[in-house]
Amino acid sequence: MKRVLSGVQPTGMLHLGNYLGAIKQFVKLQNEADCYFCVVNLHALTIPKNPEELLERTRDVVAMYLAVGLDPEKVTLFVQSQVKAHSEACWLLQCVARVGELNRMIQFKEKGKGSDSALVGLYTYPVLMAADILLYQADQVPVGEDQKQHLELTRDLAERFNRDYQEVLTVPEPLIGQVGARVMGLDNPEKKMSKSADSAFNYIAMLDDPKMIEKKLKRAVTDSENQVRHDPATKPGISNLLGIYSSLSGKSIKELEKQYEGVGYGLFKKDLIEVTVDHLQPIQERYYQIRKSSLLDQVLAEGKEKANAVAEETLRKMKEAMGVL
Ligand code: AQP
Repeated sequence: MKRVLSGVQPTGMLHLGNYLGAIKQFVKLQNEADCYFCVVNLHALTIPKNPEELLERTRDVVAMYLAVGLDPEKVTLFVQSQVKAHSEACWLLQCVARVGELNRMIQFKEKGKGSDSALVGLYTYPVLMAADILLYQADQVPVGEDQKQHLELTRDLAERFNRDYQEVLTVPEPLIGQVGARVMGLDNPEKKMSKSADSAFNYIAMLDDPKMIEKKLKRAVTDSENQVRHDPATKPGISNLLGIYSSLSGKSIKELEKQYEGVGYGLFKKDLIEVTVDHLQPIQERYYQIRKSSLLDQVLAEGKEKANAVAEETLRKMKEAMGVL
């Protein structure tokens, strides 16, 4: 059985990009693979947050994992900081990674903005991500397209480790969906939908209520052509909305283009609002129930134990291969 690992940062309210790009795939994969899904709270420290808020957001992500349908009987859910091997393996891999490789990482350039005050952790973030993945000997990593470059680095580090030391690490494949792999901002469809966007009109949060969803989708940027057609180069806004509609409804983009031929954007947006609300409402109901229940602690205690067992075993092999007592 294939091993799958992925994670989400507890950096804010999860949005449709996180869901369609990554988490929705997790739900399908839990029936096909041995899955490990984590909340990467150590990664979240690269953009400092209030400690209490970080704790709350960490639990929010676990509750959302369960609310979207991840079954703790089938998958291992855990918090990154509860498995010490991640930090230790990160150091070992920092002694495999090259400065030139990290200098090329687009996310560091975008988030660090070339500032001297950018944190060292933001710079070494991709190495910690490699440790997260390689410790579990993951075959596949379901992520949005924005993580493709980090995945390539993970593969390079695994290959180099295996070549320079011993064959210890599985070289993982990225698993990037066709539709939803890159959900763009509603207010700026040239850039990806992002939790840290300046305006809340950039994203649909998983917990937005129906009124808010309506407001945001009505305001979503389109164009003046009034034709529902998929063409990301010339119609980025409407193409993005078509992608969201298709991912949420299961209808293909071709089908949707046909359905809305000649009717303009008004009806298209009205239906998209309905589809989005109908999709998110049951998730939200489950989320609020789970968030206040004791289920979270129980799931995390079990997850911590299972994740530690696997990660410690790989770490032991890595240390042995490197000659570290
Ligand atoms: N816009 C997106 N479209 C498709 N997938 C996306 N992901 C993020 N944004 C999009 C995928 O969601 C997973 C978890 O992401 P993360 O928590 O690691 O955060 P991120 O990639 O840094 O992006 P965010 O959520 O927008 O946060 P900020 O604003 O802090 O950068 C990943 O698999 C990611 O690919």
